[in-house]
This record gives sequence, structure tokens and C-alpha cells, in this order.
Amino acid sequence: MEIQVTDAEDTIKLGEIIGKSLEPGSIIALRGDLGAGKTVLVKGIARGLGVEDEPVSPTFVIMNAYEGRIPLYHFDLYRISGADELMSIGADEFLFGGGVSAVEWAERVEEIFPEYTIYIDIKMPGPGSGAAENTREIKIEGKKEWVSSFRSTAEQALPASTR
Ligand SMILES: Nc1ncnc2c1ncn2[C@@H]1O[C@H](COP(=O)(O)OP(=O)(O)OP(=O)(O)O)[C@@H](O)[C@H]1O
Ligand SMILES: [Mg+2]
Repeated sequence: MEIQVTDAEDTIKLGEIIGKSLEPGSIIALRGDLGAGKTVLVKGIARGLGVEDEPVSPTFVIMNAYEGRIPLYHFDLYRISGADELMSIGADEFLFGGGVSAVEWAERVEEIFPEYTIYIDIKMPGPGSGAAENTREIKIEGKKEWVSSFRSTAEQALPASTR
């Protein structure tokens, strides 16, 4: 499904709905350019998981862990060269553990993701597109049943944006 949000607050709301819908073991693969809003979405996911801290970009580390209804493992793979490097540092223990993994720069390690992965692509308006600066196109893909139950919740919470 695709959603168009008009500001960061809506992205957080969307993340919160996603966070509430997740189960232990869920994996979210986030794709999108620098500044697209991946970390903003993870802040919302954390809220939905009942995490009290607010996630920040893990700049000097690959992963930050947060306690919530389900533990949240927030990865930022911007500095990772590929799947081999990620596995060599033992990340699979967390990635495929019992928590929720939200992975920024999932493009870097595309081949590691299992078929139940939820993929979220965030697109910023291109220069000259005419779209407002804070608009984002957010595409969400995952298991059919999960997407359809998520869709009905999102349509109620963010009626204007859902398509
Ligand atoms: N609709 C929106 N959704 C999310 N963020 C938005 C939106 N509109 C504006 N912003 C701004 O865009 C920026 C997104 O930053 P964020 O750190 O989440 O990007 P990112 O995708 O995580 O980038 P990076 O690849 O550097 O980690 C924030 O400053 C936020 O306030
Ligand atoms: Mg980020």
C-alpha cells in the first residue's frame, strides 16, 4: 500500500500504528535517501512498541537496543559494506532474535531479509516536482494479512493520506 504524508508528525503517527501491529520477530527493512525520514518513522515505531526513550540516529554504532512491549533493535547500515560485514560482527543474533528489528539502509544488505520482512520505502519529492517540501510517499509491503489489517487501521487514523 502507499501513503502520502504531509509532515513529520504524520510519519510518526504512521510509525506508531506500525509499531502497535508488530509481533516478536518482526523485521522492518527501511529504504530511502539521506533525510527521507527513516529515523523519524522509527521514532513512531518505538512509540507504538511502548518504548519510553526516543530513538536517535545510531551514528557511531550500527545498532541501538530499546526496551518496550517487544525489544526494538534499531540498525543503521549506512556504513556497512554488505551482508558479509554485518554477519561477521554477529548482528544476526539480534536481527533474527525475538525482538523487532528496524533496519535503515536495508538496500546495503538486501539478500539477508526473510520473506516475512516488512519493506518500507520513503520517497522525498524531487527538485522541481512541485510537491511540498515535507511531503513523503511511503510504500509499505509485507504479508497480505498484515498489510490488510494495517491498512484498515491506517485509513482510520490518517484518512486523507491513505491510498
Ligand atoms: N513527512 C516527513 N516525514 C519524515 N521526516 C520529515 C518529513 N518532513 C520533513 N521531515 C524532516 O526530514 C528529516 C528526516 O530525517 P531522518 O533522520 O528521519 O532521515 P533518515 O532517512 O533517517 O536519514 P539518514 O539516511 O541520514 O539516516 C527530519 O529533519 C524531519 O523533520
Ligand atoms: Mg536515519
